[in-house]
Amino acid sequence: MENGHTGKHRVAVIGSGNWGSVASRLLASNTAKLPSFHDEVRMWVFEETLPTGEKLSESINQAHENCKYLPGIKLGTNVIADPDLESAVKDADMLVFVTPHQFVEGICKKLVGKLRPGVEAISLIKGMEVKMEGPCMISKLITDTLGINCCVLMGANIANEIAVEKFSEATIGYREDKEAANRWAKLFTTPYFLVSVVEDIEGVELCGTLKNVVAIAAGFVDGLDMGNNTKAAIMRIGLREMRAFSKLLFPSVRDNTFFESCGVADLITTCLGGRNRRVAEAFARNGGKRSFDELEAEMLHGQKLQGVSTAREVYEVLTYHGWQELFPLLSTVHEICIGQLPPTSIVEYSSLKVNLEDAIKNNLGFVKFSKTKHSITFQFLAKQGPGSCRC
Ligand SMILES: NC(=O)c1ccc[n+]([C@@H]2O[C@H](COP(=O)([O-])OP(=O)(O)OC[C@H]3O[C@@H](n4cnc5c(N)ncnc54)[C@H](O)[C@@H]3O)[C@@H](O)[C@H]2O)c1
Repeated sequence: MENGHTGKHRVAVIGSGNWGSVASRLLASNTAKLPSFHDEVRMWVFEETLPTGEKLSESINQAHENCKYLPGIKLGTNVIADPDLESAVKDADMLVFVTPHQFVEGICKKLVGKLRPGVEAISLIKGMEVKMEGPCMISKLITDTLGINCCVLMGANIANEIAVEKFSEATIGYREDKEAANRWAKLFTTPYFLVSVVEDIEGVELCGTLKNVVAIAAGFVDGLDMGNNTKAAIMRIGLREMRAFSKLLFPSVRDNTFFESCGVADLITTCLGGRNRRVAEAFARNGGKRSFDELEAEMLHGQKLQGVSTAREVYEVLTYHGWQELFPLLSTVHEICIGQLPPTSIVEYSSLKVNLEDAIKNNLGFVKFSKTKHSITFQFLAKQGPGSCRC
């Protein structure tokens, strides 16, 4: 697969927020050096008017800096901001999707019939869409809407740290096309950004998606001054629920994926330093009296929180399958976010012991459960027939 005009690959980035800008900078540093890529990286900008009256895309092209989402960092003169989506992608054969997840579906619909044949995509987006027929990962949404192969890249990647070239790692997940995944790895790898490749697209994408919900829980713990032991416990319980949720939805998900950068490393960095943790801390300090929408607007200046909407989407999946009691942490985060429970519930509910291993092994479809203070009993229809487990 290569671009017909020059024999070189052309890269376009769809999104220009904090991570979108950093990713464009990193990619442009490589396209400038690697002979198999065209120098220029086109970056689609959701156009905004700055307080100065100037358009954001014009300001980026003049100063080579995104003064709203990544102030103080030069992107490189070969990053070209383009507010016209169609024009931004028209020559590209490698598309990088990096917008907040709630905007992807609309963007994909606009791109139908506008792409070059043989285009490859990668998604850096954390989140999922929940539809009537069940959860749909963003890479699948891109593949299904546009009919193109889509890998994912996730990892312990707080954008502002990569912007100043602090060492970090990332994981690319792919379905079948290893060659395409390796091409993406070559394009993203720098001495300060090491990329590994694994054949587990759902595992990688669900790690990146679910850790934002656990980060909200970690923020509650910080806001309630519960200390490091409690936070570590929440992270452990969260990782366990992430793994079980992923494996119940996609039995092909591999345990080893949780030990890649996209798994435990991203969970740690997000629970220590990310924006989801920070806003959730403020939510808990205010006793849940100020909404996440209000805090997001006040604290993030146009950046978007992903954890709260992902918690809602995960909850919809849990409700649909009757799995809420099996995932006390993931469920409780959503119930706190919507004001149904106080922030202090984060430890009460997470302390329940649930046997997720049985659930994964049997790939349950629950029909009935009963709950006491210390145990939950499920009766379920297992693959081999009806059974029950006490957790
Ligand atoms: N920032 C990070 O550190 C980081 C790291 C890894 C992954 N991610 C993921 O990357 C994705 C993008 O995050 P980000 O940090 O680049 O964005 P951001 O939250 O910094 O910025 C929000 C972006 O959304 C755009 N936007 C606003 N309204 C829009 C609309 N109606 N349609 C389309 N775009 C609109 C804004 O112009 C802006 O570019 C998210 O899925 C996030 O979880 C972020």
